[in-house]
Amino acid sequence: GRKWTEVGLVNESLKDKTVLVRGRIQTTRPVGKNIGFLVLREKGFTLQCVLTVADNLVSRQTVKFATSLSKESHVDIEGIVSVPDAPIKGATQQVELQVRKIYGISRALPTLPINIDDAARSEVDIEKALQGGEQLVRVNQDTRLNFRVLDLRTPANQGIFRIQCQVENEVPTVWQNDHRVVYTVVPYMEELRGADLIFRQFLLSEGFVGIHTPKLIAGSSEGGASVFRLDYKGRPACLAQSPQLHKQMAICGDLGRVFEIGPVFRAEDSFTHRHLCEFTGLDAEMEIKEHYSEVMDVVDRLFVAMFDSLNENCKKELEAIGKQYPFEPLKYLRKTLRLTFEEGVQMLKEAGVEVDPLGDLNTEVERKLGKLVLEKYDTEFYILHRYPLAVRPFYTMPAYDNPAYSNSFDVFIRGEEIISGAQRVHVPELLSTRAEGLGIDLKSIETYIDAFRYGAPPHGGFGVGLERVVMLFCALNNIRKTSLFPRDPQRITP
Ligand code: 4AD
Repeated sequence: GRKWTEVGLVNESLKDKTVLVRGRIQTTRPVGKNIGFLVLREKGFTLQCVLTVADNLVSRQTVKFATSLSKESHVDIEGIVSVPDAPIKGATQQVELQVRKIYGISRALPTLPINIDDAARSEVDIEKALQGGEQLVRVNQDTRLNFRVLDLRTPANQGIFRIQCQVENEVPTVWQNDHRVVYTVVPYMEELRGADLIFRQFLLSEGFVGIHTPKLIAGSSEGGASVFRLDYKGRPACLAQSPQLHKQMAICGDLGRVFEIGPVFRAEDSFTHRHLCEFTGLDAEMEIKEHYSEVMDVVDRLFVAMFDSLNENCKKELEAIGKQYPFEPLKYLRKTLRLTFEEGVQMLKEAGVEVDPLGDLNTEVERKLGKLVLEKYDTEFYILHRYPLAVRPFYTMPAYDNPAYSNSFDVFIRGEEIISGAQRVHVPELLSTRAEGLGIDLKSIETYIDAFRYGAPPHGGFGVGLERVVMLFCALNNIRKTSLFPRDPQRITP
């Protein structure tokens, strides 16, 4: 085979060498009949390619062919690397390729439903352009999602989905002249130990076992109305609203500490900026020795490590996202702030916001509390715990000292919830009473309750929404931006 180079690796060190690259055509520009330019793009890196009939490098026909190719077409180019005197505008690579051969691989439609350059512009930029009289078509969110494979090609989206991957996995990378080289084989875990581990590797390093629970289940796992019902060979069933019941049963099965990264289904009625009908859940469940704060300790260490790692390892991606959607880096403390629900209610009260001390906080109030916490404690990431029992699911453990409260918590980024967690009821009689009281059909969760009749350790855990973490870490305004192919109450394609 021929030797391929990546666009991002074409640099001065290859001066005068012949290289072979594959990429998409970002722009073409003919200059008369004898010269043409095109910018080739691969994984967000761009390279200017020069076609010239001088020195018999290419024919006039090739110049014509290359400069008339439609944007976003895939081509292979063989050429010689040269270093121009002046800096190159409009390309990431500061060298040029003198084209010798060009092959068309896949032709894109001459007119695309989305102009990617326009789709990549920030709101501020677009406003300026419109005021300056520029003709441009604003790409709205629905259009973007309808043609998601094109929308995904913008630098901000390239950044978003690399960050999403990094939230789940510590992707070991090295940098070569600004180019990220990803190693698919994870080096020894020992080398990865330390502050920069994220979800999967972090939990593995703390003794959690990765599991996969069924997504077709008999009873609803979170209760309520947001369940997709289906027919399971003639029996009623649902799509799992969370791995809740089965991750707890894994603990009853002596797995000690477990985690799962998997799909979660919610038949949401509300069409909001933060609800999807299918999202990726990062779930953990563990035995507890003394107190539910052990679970919050894990959350604390995990997320501080995750944020550190994202800031350290995803600088390029964060920069690309910030260019289109400007945002301030997340403020977080080395040791995550914990407030009790009562303290939160008190802070709100002092700020003139009255809430039911035993009720739930609505989105607006949560945001308000986020602002108050930021002012007082200088952090945008914190844990609110000891929620009123009445607003938590049936499997939540009541507080030992006061059953109006519970051993539970929510975690917030920039005033919005990303996690809920709790100690669970491991006493079968109490579990039945709680479920019954909330009108849950006991028959449908019988085997779950039975699981606690064979001896079950105290335990607790938490569930994180992956799309929400990325959305809020980057201060994006809509969860659809961080879902590859979002599913919401109105959308099931593409
Ligand atoms: O708060 P939820 O519903 O909690 C549970 O599922 C529990 N079983 C977790 C536990 O272990 N106690 O969901 C957990 C997280 C939320 O904090 C939120 O980040 C995300 O999942 N989430 C959603 N994300 C996108 N779209 C939706 N419709 C979501 N519903 C919840």
